[in-house]
Amino acid sequence: MHICVVGTGYVGLVTGACLADFGMDVTCVDKVTEKIDALNRGEIPIYEPGLDALVAKNAKAGRLHFTTDLSAGIRQALAVFIAVGTPPKEDGSADLSYVVQVAEAIADNLNGYKVVVTKSTVPIGTGQMIEEIIRKRTGGTVPFSVVSNPEFLREGSAIEDFMRPDRVVIGARDPQAIAIMKDIYSPLYLIETPFVITNVESSELIKYASNAFLATKITFINEVAALCDALGADVHHVAKGMGLDKRIGPKFLHPGPGYGGSCFPKDTQALADIARNAGVPFEIVETVVAVNERLKERAAEKVLAALGDGGEDATVAVLGLSFKPETDDMRESPAIPVVTRLVEAGATVRAFDPAAMENAKAVLPDGVVYCENAYHAAEGADVLVILTEWNQFRSLDLDRLHAAMRRPVVVDLRNVYDPARMAEKGFEYTSIGRAAKNLPEG
Ligand code: UGA
Repeated sequence: MHICVVGTGYVGLVTGACLADFGMDVTCVDKVTEKIDALNRGEIPIYEPGLDALVAKNAKAGRLHFTTDLSAGIRQALAVFIAVGTPPKEDGSADLSYVVQVAEAIADNLNGYKVVVTKSTVPIGTGQMIEEIIRKRTGGTVPFSVVSNPEFLREGSAIEDFMRPDRVVIGARDPQAIAIMKDIYSPLYLIETPFVITNVESSELIKYASNAFLATKITFINEVAALCDALGADVHHVAKGMGLDKRIGPKFLHPGPGYGGSCFPKDTQALADIARNAGVPFEIVETVVAVNERLKERAAEKVLAALGDGGEDATVAVLGLSFKPETDDMRESPAIPVVTRLVEAGATVRAFDPAAMENAKAVLPDGVVYCENAYHAAEGADVLVILTEWNQFRSLDLDRLHAAMRRPVVVDLRNVYDPARMAEKGFEYTSIGRAAKNLPEG
């Protein structure tokens, strides 16, 4: 089966490579020539573990192609996946102009029945809009179906998430389209992945509701952590005690400096906007958005407090800049407000991230010193901040770190280290929600 994937961003590229690996003949299209040229040379524009090997394998096998020729890509495909960006507009709503452009191109190249699949996260009603655009533009002469098939990929484990998902959601009306989608995902049927078959609107909402729920869960535990600090409890014990209840579950109960990334901040705002427009304001989500912003500020305040009398002339080492480990993505990373605030306070920031430093340079204030490794960043620092829990920051040589710093103060915003061990090693150590002084052994 021929498939066209429009957009070679994060979602498009992973989808294209994985579908090719399922045995489909996939053409990935992007309008940025340099991107396509790079992909044709085997260069991957994003950092995602395993993606380079998967692209190389399937390109070599002749199942994965890259082109800027959208018309040709559409014309030869039975299914066209829309995976273009839906960036947030000023008011938080999603900008659908790229989706509209692709829908128009599909209409102009509708040379036979096609399934038009939205992979991008799109507001509820977009499937309907795409259908109307194509019907109007073609005069309804050629049959087609519109399907919503949202992605639930996490950056850093996107390939695993695609190949072994918790579920596949297919929103469609017509049985022919559902049958084609099932055919595309047949390798997942074989491993008994649950499929949710529903209408387009429900499928579109499943994506937003899932992300908003996860963002709420994280925000909830972040608020619990603040309470733990105030009341002398330990957030990890509380999270464990909560998470063992199967109705709650243990995942996404890890406190941090506030969620970031290209999805949760954008999707929570978009869902709040959708709900407002529908006349049913989604108050929990509105609150989550506001609380998460405050959490990022609170993270910066924690660091400033550790500096004592303000940031002026102080040196702060920052370990981790990306919004989470295993990605070079800086979008909405808590590092942006935290580092900006420190620089504004007059501190010199010495930063290190294993993958995101190039991207960080574009969004962090001038004057940040980019370092070669964690120890280099720690040189002469008054405070060391752990902002992203990359694995390599979990087993640092603490004596070496201590020796490199001017003052042995650590603010661990991801709770990577054990407070007792840090104290033993002579650090003044602050983390999140671990103010308990009287925890029993073991
Ligand atoms: C998220 C969802 O997890 C995916 O299912 C979804 O497909 C994707 O958005 C999307 O909409 O495309 P992602 O943004 O890659 O994936 O990242 P997550 O692993 O979900 O983490 C998001 C943020 O929450 C990060 O800043 C992370 O540090 C933070 N987080 C996560 C916590 O602070 N605590 C946790 O317990 C979990």
